[in-house]
Amino acid sequence: MADILILYYSRYGSVAAMAQLIARGVEQVPGMQARLRTVPAVSTVCEAVEDSIPGDGPPYATLDDLRECAGLALGSPTRFGNMAAPLKYFIDSTGSLWLSGVMAGKPAAVFTSTSTLHGGQESTLLSMMIPLLHHGMMVLGLPFSETDILTTTSGGTPYGASHWAGNDSDQPMSEEEKRLCRALGKRLAEAAQALIRE
Ligand SMILES: Cc1cc2nc3c(=O)[nH]c(=O)nc-3n(C[C@H](O)[C@H](O)[C@H](O)COP(=O)(O)O)c2cc1C
Repeated sequence: MADILILYYSRYGSVAAMAQLIARGVEQVPGMQARLRTVPAVSTVCEAVEDSIPGDGPPYATLDDLRECAGLALGSPTRFGNMAAPLKYFIDSTGSLWLSGVMAGKPAAVFTSTSTLHGGQESTLLSMMIPLLHHGMMVLGLPFSETDILTTTSGGTPYGASHWAGNDSDQPMSEEEKRLCRALGKRLAEAAQALIRE
């Protein structure tokens, strides 16, 4: 079995719900399994460290998770049109992986959730790709052959999966958003598998 790492930060649960659906898509591909990992919140008390195992949800990611994965789905809430600081903080700790080039050539995809429909899903997704490109990863989006992109009235973009969660983070995922999350996970797993076989 090869692993697709689904690495995300989620404060209110929307991005976590997307991660579960992406994992379902990954596991539609025989021989591929999802490895879910999150990152701790960051605070002004920088010396404080959280327990290495969170109270609930998946374990915190380590650099070995990145080394070992065959592909990566990276998820974050949108914060001021960009990824959230806890995820960026973790990414900023990956300099040794960048130097070794271990992520180069692996496929990657991104996903996000926002409170407002036009509050920066696309800017977040595009900017999340930048560090992945620096790592030499091969970034995948969603093709328009996933026709939900043409008809969605909520989230779902060619740049990756997205969810419009509403101001109170209580808007359920639409059927289009759910299908596009699964499609992104499946596409990523298929790409990783094809590259492993090369
Ligand atoms: C500091 C901060 C900044 C945010 N910036 C945006 C934003 O630019 N656009 C937007 O639509 N939502 C913004 N939000 C809302 C979150 O993106 C939204 O609630 C998201 O669905 C949370 O995902 P989660 O449930 O996985 O934590 C912001 C939230 C916080 C706390």
